[in-house]
Amino acid sequence: MPPILKTNPTKTLLLTFLLLSGSFIISKTTHAAPNRQARHDIFKAQIAKGRDLFVNETFSGNGRTCSTCHRLDNNHTIDPKYIARLPDDDPLFIAETNPELAALEQPKLLRQFGLILANIDGFDKPAVLRSVPHLLALGTTITPEEEFEGRVVKHAVGWSADGSPGNGSLRSFTTGAVMQHMPKTLNREEGIDFRLPTDDELDALEAYMLSLGRTEDLDLDNMYFSSPIVQKGRELFHSKEPGTGQCKGCHLNAGANSSSSLQNGNRNTGVDNMPDSPLKLVWKKTPSDGGFGGDERNDCGWSAQETCYGNNEFNMTSVVEAADTAPFFHNNSVNTIEEAVAFYNSNAFHASPGANPADPNDPESVCERCIHLEPTQVTAIALFLRTINAMENIRSSNDLDWQAYSQKRKPRRALLKLAIAETEDAIEVLEGGVIIPNPQSVQLLHKALSHQQEALYTPISRQARNLLKQAIEYKQQANDLLLKEAPAATNED
Ligand code: HEC
Ligand code: HEC
Repeated sequence: MPPILKTNPTKTLLLTFLLLSGSFIISKTTHAAPNRQARHDIFKAQIAKGRDLFVNETFSGNGRTCSTCHRLDNNHTIDPKYIARLPDDDPLFIAETNPELAALEQPKLLRQFGLILANIDGFDKPAVLRSVPHLLALGTTITPEEEFEGRVVKHAVGWSADGSPGNGSLRSFTTGAVMQHMPKTLNREEGIDFRLPTDDELDALEAYMLSLGRTEDLDLDNMYFSSPIVQKGRELFHSKEPGTGQCKGCHLNAGANSSSSLQNGNRNTGVDNMPDSPLKLVWKKTPSDGGFGGDERNDCGWSAQETCYGNNEFNMTSVVEAADTAPFFHNNSVNTIEEAVAFYNSNAFHASPGANPADPNDPESVCERCIHLEPTQVTAIALFLRTINAMENIRSSNDLDWQAYSQKRKPRRALLKLAIAETEDAIEVLEGGVIIPNPQSVQLLHKALSHQQEALYTPISRQARNLLKQAIEYKQQANDLLLKEAPAATNED
């Protein structure tokens, strides 16, 4: 059985720590700590500090915090359904209530599509509309391919890998986010409209963000699913052979890395070139998004006549985290995971460099990735993506339950609420495919959920702990039922 479910929070923390001490900048204090345990403690404290800043710090700005958009109980992202439940005085809607900030967002598009204005190409160029990415598994998704068009970026962050100012690192992304989303006025003057984060704050926020979600990739070639539909979905997804989905090339192990470079690359897959984009039907003048870089060009969008800035490449994303973070793509242009899979059947993708289309001047050439998936195959891939997403939700929910287990009532309740949100997500993605390949898993998850809810309301710690243990067990069983052992090797000759 593959080691999908890590229920041991210490192990997760340690993994995160190792990851950090290996390839990421961490604060000097952490490096200087005398021994492993001391480093571990400092690191734990740093994550806790980062979490507090993420949720509460406004950086003397307009009242927004990082969690205004990256909601902790919603996979650190936000979507139209979540937005519809917020009160009008939520700082997310500051552009509707503060005349000085009327142009900070496009309020209608924020409410309908969950899209945020982002000056990716600089504050002197038109802002583009982008969806809010989840911040999960960042440690596995931001190591960039050698260079992007001759420009070296430290980490590939943001939908086009160039969202971070300065050296382009995850750490400095925070500074850009403060300037972009949190100013008191659009003059964006430091010291007046906001204050910049300190070095310590940047360290803590980086540590917090890297602690979210998975810290390692799946090993899909050695995973076998009990449902033949899901198993077929895995085979169609994790392959580069013609006749399959050929998704592996850009989503190795359903992550964000190329199967050739083993790193996180940028590709032009033509998402912005789909006709009748819901966004442009609502606001005709929506600026085209040119993705990576800032060079002006005039061949963008469906008409191939619009102006945009960049080389039209976007950053490969992890898809383990996809199914419960709809809508999809950098502009939230499609609703469901099924439609996101079917995008790869589209003319927009087939004409894009990502598909390696045939060269019109070379009669011998063929389109290498003009993927064609029948609706049944789209369904199978989507059910596979739903299944691995549910497994990740179970892992995360159990991790949070374990953390809640040893806490007193108040912190226990806070952690439990997040754990419950993860169990709900697991149920939602497994039921949302309409066909339910593993009904028993769904039943067990419902049982786990009601135990978690009971634990949330009981004031007696011992009782809460018993309920949590049982909930963890149910979830573990639900997870295990999704998988099966590797088939015995056949010897047909
Ligand atoms: C008003 C909404 C909003 C707020 C507030 C906000 N973000 Fe974001 N965040 C976004 C959007 C939109 C993107 C996509 C930007 C891009 O494509 O470059 C993003 C992207 C990111 C990413 C890149 C993730 C990835 O997968 O590459 C990180 C990291 C991030 N935000 C951290 C933060 C931090 C830290 C704060 C607080 C200082 C913050 N954000 C505040 C909307 C927001
Ligand atoms: C040529 C590289 C490439 C191939 C092949 C590819 N993808 Fe992608 N994928 C990307 C890029 C780049 C993005 C981000 C695009 C954007 O937002 O504009 C993406 C985004 C996605 C998303 C949306 C994630 C989110 O959180 O919004 C899903 C789902 C997805 N891909 C699934 C698939 C599936 C299924 C296949 C195979 C049928 C596939 N991809 C093949 C490059 C690729």
